[in-house]
Amino acid sequence: MNQQLTGQRVLVVGGARDLGLAVARAVAAEGATAVVGARDAARAAAAAGTIEGAKSVRVDVTDEVSIVAALREAGPLDHVVVLASAHHNVPVTELDHDRTVAAFEAKVIGPLMLAKHTARGLPAHGSIVLFSGVAAWNPSPGYAVMGIANGAVAFAVQHLAAELAPVRVNAVSPGIVDSGSWDGLGAGKPAFLAQAAGGTLVGRAGSADDVTAAVVWLLGAGFVSGETIHVEGGARLR
Ligand SMILES: NC(=O)c1ccc[n+]([C@@H]2O[C@H](COP(=O)([O-])OP(=O)(O)OC[C@H]3O[C@@H](n4cnc5c(N)ncnc54)[C@H](OP(=O)(O)O)[C@@H]3O)[C@@H](O)[C@H]2O)c1
Repeated sequence: MNQQLTGQRVLVVGGARDLGLAVARAVAAEGATAVVGARDAARAAAAAGTIEGAKSVRVDVTDEVSIVAALREAGPLDHVVVLASAHHNVPVTELDHDRTVAAFEAKVIGPLMLAKHTARGLPAHGSIVLFSGVAAWNPSPGYAVMGIANGAVAFAVQHLAAELAPVRVNAVSPGIVDSGSWDGLGAGKPAFLAQAAGGTLVGRAGSADDVTAAVVWLLGAGFVSGETIHVEGGARLR
């Protein structure tokens, strides 16, 4: 750790669990004050309680009122990292309209609303990091919504970066990461991760550390904007 974020304040939306919690811990380890954002205030506070100096706010990116309230409560920020996602992984012939809208709200529209309300308050060295995902570049039956939404994120950061400059806007695009979010697969998780490993060039699934290293780097990368950093072991190339 080189404490490159000392004195800075980083809001991590979706920061109470899985990759988001790992990001909140990583930015705190770099000297930042992590502000953990989650839809459930108690869960956000509990997560923040495990990180030295961290704060918490309740935020639901699908609710603009909650975004405004959360930003007011969070106080001045240097960076915002958004990990919100709502999966709807079914064949196109089985799409549910409301769940499709919810997926785009969590991943695309919500981050746009966060950008709307944070952009003018961020300092010139500040940045926004959104989360895309490898599904955008690896079309696969049953993953159209995830793929299209993640692809939209890669375009969103380019447009936001151009409009919100000098604030930088970037994305991280993870491959399959054993983040905790796959624990629901139960006994099927090892086989799922082994299959994911076989779909990379490096022969393994990702770790939370792989992803947090990219986020921390982007927060300090003052000459990088509008970029999507692929953290997926070359999975797009298999
Ligand atoms: N893990 C992977 O293999 C992988 C692969 C590719 C891309 N990604 C992307 O990386 C990001 C984090 O992944 P993960 O594995 O940690 O995902 P996850 O376990 O599904 O967590 C999703 C997060 O989104 C938050 N969230 C959902 N809806 C929200 C809303 N309306 N407002 C605010 N927060 C909301 C949840 O917070 P609550 O606590 O409020 O529920 C949770 O922290 C996601 O964007 C995901 O698409 C992950």
